[in-house]
Parts: sequence; C-alpha cells; structure tokens
Amino acid sequence: MPVTVVIGSQWGDEGKGKIVDLLSERMDIVARYQGGANAGHTIVWGDRKFVLHLVPSGIFNEGVTCVIGNGVVIDPVAVMDEIRMIKELGYEVEGRLLISHNAHLIMPYHKMIEEARDRSAIGTTGRGIGPAYVDKFARSGIRVVDLLDRDVLRRKLKASIEEKNAILKSVYGAQELDVEQIIEEYVEFDKLIDPYIKDTTEYLADALKQGKQVLAEGAQGSLLDVDFGTYPFVTSSHPTVGGACTGLGIPPTEIRRVIGIVKAYSTRVGHGPFPTELSDATGERLRAVGHEFGATTGRPRRCGWLDLVALRYSTAINGFTELAITKLDVLSGLDTVEVCTHYRLPDGRLSQRFSSDVATLERVEPVYERFEGWSENLDGIEREDDLPKAARVYLDFVSRRLEVPIRLVSTGPHRDQTVHSTIGSAAS
Ligand code: GDP
Ligand code: IMO
Ligand code: MG
Repeated sequence: MPVTVVIGSQWGDEGKGKIVDLLSERMDIVARYQGGANAGHTIVWGDRKFVLHLVPSGIFNEGVTCVIGNGVVIDPVAVMDEIRMIKELGYEVEGRLLISHNAHLIMPYHKMIEEARDRSAIGTTGRGIGPAYVDKFARSGIRVVDLLDRDVLRRKLKASIEEKNAILKSVYGAQELDVEQIIEEYVEFDKLIDPYIKDTTEYLADALKQGKQVLAEGAQGSLLDVDFGTYPFVTSSHPTVGGACTGLGIPPTEIRRVIGIVKAYSTRVGHGPFPTELSDATGERLRAVGHEFGATTGRPRRCGWLDLVALRYSTAINGFTELAITKLDVLSGLDTVEVCTHYRLPDGRLSQRFSSDVATLERVEPVYERFEGWSENLDGIEREDDLPKAARVYLDFVSRRLEVPIRLVSTGPHRDQTVHSTIGSAAS
C-alpha cells in the first residue's frame, strides 16, 4: 500500500489533523500537497492543543519524515514559527522536515492584494493563498529554489514588486511596497530555510521504490476545490485526489487507499452556498458542542446536517476507498438526527445530483431522512459493538448510501478516542 491519501470530503475542518496524526504511526512519510497556511489542522494530547498550518500532521511521530510538497504555497514566516513551536515541544525537525524546492512562496504583497480584492467577498482566510496561486499560474511566482541565488531572487522580486506596486497604487489606492526591505527579509529567510530544502519529488520517488509508506495529507475540503467546489466560493488549489499527484509528483498508480474524512454533520467557514445549514437552535448547539470556531481565523463555523448529496459527489470525484467519520460524539444527546438524502429543485423534482453551480445550489431545498438520536456519551468506547445502536444505524445508512466502508469512527479529539469500524465492509 504505497500511498494513502487523506482528503476532507466536505468544506474543510473535518478533523483531518487528528486522523493524520493517528495514521502516521504506521507511515514513513507524511506529505502535504496543496494549500498553505489557510489550513488549520488540530492535534490534541492531554489538555494541550496544537494547530498546524503548513507542517504535516505526522510531525509528532518521531519515525516519520514530513514533506511540504511543490503544490503548497509557503508563507516563510508561518513555516518558521511552526518549526520553532515544534522544536520547543522537544521534537527534532531538521532532517525530518523537507520542503520542496519547487513550492511557491507567499509574499507580503499577496496578503495585501487579497485584503484589497476578495477577502470580504469570498470570506477568505487572509493568508495570501489566492494571489500566490495567481502568480504561480501567471508564471511570475517566486519559488523556494529562487532563494538559493541572491541575484536571481533580487531580479525576480524587483520585477514582481514593481508590477504589484503599480496595481496596489492605481487599482486599490493602497500603499506601495519597499523593494529593498522585502529583499532583505527574504534573504534572511533563506538562511533559516536552507537546511530543509530538497527535491521532494525525487525523494518521494526513491522512497516509493523502497516500498516506504507515504501518507498524502490534503488540506481544506473537496467542496472547496477550485474546479469541483462551489466556485467562486472555493480555495485556489486542488484538495481533491488529483491534487496529491500534481502537488507531490507521485503517479496515480501508486495510490491504493483514499480515505475520505467525513464530519458526522456539516460545517462551512466563509461565504457560499450550504444547503443543509441550520440557522436555528440545533445549528447553535452543533457549534457550541462541536467547538466549531475556525482553527486559523477563529471565525464561527456555519453548521448543519450531514449532506449525502454533496458527499456522493465528493466520493465520485475522489474515489474514496474508505471513510473516517469524525465528531460523532457531538451528535450525542439529540432526540433526532437528520441526513439530507435528496435536494428538491425549484420545480418540485427530487434530485440526488450535486451541482457546484452556486445559483442552483442556493435554490435547492434539502430533503431529510430522520433518525432516532442517542443519549449515551461516547467517551471511552473502544469497540464498534459498544457504540449505541442508534449511532450504528446512522453510520450504516451513511456507508450504504455512499457505498464506501467506514473504517474509523472518531468520538473525541484525542488519538485514543477512535473506534475501528467494519461498517459497510461486506458491501465493499
Ligand atoms: P482539520 O482542518 O480537518 O484538521 O480540522 P480542524 O482541526 O480545523 O477542526 C477539527 C476540530 O475538531 C479540532 O478542534 C479537533 O481537535 C476536533 N476534533 C477532531 N475529531 C474530533 C472528534 O471526533 N470529536 C470532537 N468532539 N472533536 C474532534
Ligand atoms: P482546513 O485544512 C475550512 C475557506 C475559507 C474561504 C475559502 C477561501 O483547516 O480544513 P482561502 O483563504 O483559502 O482563499 O479561502 O476557503 N477555507 C477553509 N475552510 N478549512 C480550511 O482548511 C480552509 N481553508 C480555506 O474560509 O471560505
Ligand atoms: Mg481546519
């Protein structure tokens, strides 16, 4: 099983960090393939909580090497802060963290342009992600490899900053940037990042040849994918499975497991359509019990019931071979639990088709199947058979509808609050 890909199946924050940390015990390499410091992946031990934005969630397993792939856009300040935090916790980072020489860098002007352009319209995280990917595809980005040659860096930065200054001044009326100051900052950064830079594609190819186990860690979620998500309310990268190949340089034939992380209900941060959103007391309850506040920006997450129409779409695109259901504990104590199975279209017809078209999605009405709730606290449950009967009925329904087995059920933020599951295995 050379490559396992872990992918958020919804709008992000499904609990990928917890599951990747858990699975990395059996991995040699954990590699991030897209996104940047817009991600916030939480890992909890005891009463301590750590949020990783760029460093892969396998870093707390000492035998694991972590890779930040070419598909990631790197904020130098964020990555150095994170490395410092991990070192302070007593973990070795040098030699265990490799940063692709081909990854693009987030520059101060990316955040400024985002602030001026699409922060409030889309509800982005303010981490400069969109403008950095724009530069990448416009072929005017600055890459990690550019840091290695001071003259090249100076030339590229100068050209880029001059262009950005013209835009910032004339289009947005914003303050101009100081070319020399930015060059100095990034030259300093080069000294710090140097020990981590590597041709990670070659490294991964060699590792796969040696039969090493690689886990590719997705950020964000499938419904935020720039091609398949609810455009334009999306992020600017490919969290879906193809992103793992292009964001790391691994062939699709090496991917044997694709794990869809499914939160037991739905959440979304930022703007955009969300058919099963609950703007009532139940939505409030999910937010309060699930602590649904952004790990990166602290914004309250919008909450709603599980949406199987959206999840079938996500399953079709990613080809999930198994699911990990997270935050099942948050549903404990509800009298009934609802699951959206169809959308009712404006003309009254029922549909199971997810349209990523915003205007269509905004007009659909979710049709729910109701399930009996359960009152039991799930804490301490270790075996699938010990999960409440009503919870198993709920999970069984989800697995059947998606036609994918559930292998893990998460009942709390800690590593040990995880139950191995065989639900749906017979069907697969
Ligand atoms: P990610 O971006 O997908 O890694 O998810 P986040 O870390 O942004 O958000 C998930 C939140 O839920 C974090 O605070 C986790 O500690 C927490 N969490 C993960 N799994 C569970 C679970 O099964 N139950 C509960 N109650 N919390 C969980
Ligand atoms: P993790 O990896 C949830 C959302 C933003 C916004 C949209 C575009 O923790 O699951 P961007 O800054 O990427 O240009 O914002 O995407 N978003 C996320 N939502 N989890 C994330 O990451 C997200 N990363 C971006 O809120 O709606
Ligand atoms: Mg998150």
